[in-house]
Amino acid sequence: MAVEQIQKLLISLCLLATIGLATDIACYPVECKLSTQTFTSETCAYWDKVSDTYYLQDCNSTSYCAFPEFEDPANSTCSTTPVTALNKYPGEKCTADSDCDTTYAAGGCASGVCVGVSSNGNCTQNGECNPGLFCSSEGKCVSQLKVGSQCENDYQCINWAGCNITSTATYGTCVSYYSVSDNTRIAYCSDAMQTNLCASTLCDTVNGEAVCLSSLKSSKGNLLPIICQNSDECESTVDPGTGSSYTVDCTCGLNKHGYSFCGQWPGDPDYANLIQMWKKWTLSASIDKCNTVRRFKKVCVADWWDSNDVTLLNYFNLKVNNWPYLQMNDECVQDIFMSLYYEVKEAYNAIRNTTDPDEHHGSSSAILLAFSLSFLAYA
Ligand SMILES: *[C@@H]1O[C@H](CO)[C@@H](O)[C@H](O)[C@H]1NC(C)=O
Ligand SMILES: *[C@@H]1O[C@H](CO)[C@@H](O)[C@H](O)[C@H]1NC(C)=O
Ligand SMILES: *[C@@H]1O[C@H](CO)[C@@H](O)[C@H](O)[C@H]1NC(C)=O
Ligand SMILES: *[C@@H]1O[C@H](CO)[C@@H](O)[C@H](O)[C@H]1NC(C)=O
Ligand SMILES: *[C@@H]1O[C@H](CO)[C@@H](O)[C@H](O)[C@H]1NC(C)=O
Repeated sequence: MAVEQIQKLLISLCLLATIGLATDIACYPVECKLSTQTFTSETCAYWDKVSDTYYLQDCNSTSYCAFPEFEDPANSTCSTTPVTALNKYPGEKCTADSDCDTTYAAGGCASGVCVGVSSNGNCTQNGECNPGLFCSSEGKCVSQLKVGSQCENDYQCINWAGCNITSTATYGTCVSYYSVSDNTRIAYCSDAMQTNLCASTLCDTVNGEAVCLSSLKSSKGNLLPIICQNSDECESTVDPGTGSSYTVDCTCGLNKHGYSFCGQWPGDPDYANLIQMWKKWTLSASIDKCNTVRRFKKVCVADWWDSNDVTLLNYFNLKVNNWPYLQMNDECVQDIFMSLYYEVKEAYNAIRNTTDPDEHHGSSSAILLAFSLSFLAYA
């Protein structure tokens, strides 16, 4: 039943019951190429066996560098950036027929939007139907279902609601996203322990019953980022309903010390802002302009939502999902692997009229301050 996750799950949750079993992770230092080193123009990441360090050099403007492998270290060479077709879905903006996906928006581009199948037209997949419709079991595009209606999956419900259904039931009920309170039952919780039916976005299964958790925070408080050796060190606050605390992954960063960092929790400040932005999106009229399978896709959001809101959503999304890679990194890491984040951050600062010194391009004192604070908290 799960729709696509609201963000890429770099962050996976697992019960603290596994305490003591987590093994320390090994990360390689990653830093800019030394002035004494000479690389061929194709080499962008050179793994030095002797110092066990990755050294980086930027690629040219038409190519990109593959992310370094920590499990199986090796050199990386620049790869040509692929030209990706837009493949837009019904309801998304276009300027030519070729912008529209040939399978899902076979009607091409008309009046600036890609055209799919209209009400009562034949369909085989949800992606083919125009906004406001889903593909029924009879193979017709029909109106999406209101909150409280009987449903089999999220795509049948209006874009701002999901289907509250167990994995074995035939039918569930459409429930508004982010509406179910802490410590309240829902039908199903996935292994990833995330659902956007819950206000907190977190859930757990206790004695076979799924329940929404509270908005858990890092147990170490707001002194982010937290350096870790394994996930046991990345513990949440205790959920008052279940009485349990949970752990989040400890992930290798991209810094010259080889440090790794705990992911953020939904109750931590940036993640809480991200959830607020997703919630604002589901409450906006713009979400109705998206095809049912595209309700949380950045392409459709960017087409129809207020541009400042899009900037805020992108900023918090990139910040939360790349959190370990943004800490204590060198300028070449920023340019080679994280340039999208730093571009969006500039747009964010412009909206906010701030020049937030925290992990700002080229500055490091604030990072070191944040680092020493978290290190104290960690000790
Ligand atoms: C990695 O790149 C360096 C510098 O270009 C080169 O000297 C070295 O032979 C490469 N190592 C491997 C295993 O390809
Ligand atoms: C950019 O780098 C790619 C990959 O190394 C190479 O194939 C291409 O010729 C380079 N382009 C220019 C303009 O140097
Ligand atoms: C829809 O499918 C039905 C049954 O296969 C067919 O008879 C009908 O012509 C189709 N309608 C359109 C508009 O293609
Ligand atoms: C969701 O379904 C579960 C189990 O079927 C039920 O207990 C719960 O009350 C439902 N929640 C809502 C908000 O409809
Ligand atoms: C940012 O500055 C501009 C121009 O000085 C002003 O119009 C705008 O309201 C400010 N925005 C915020 C969020 O303070």
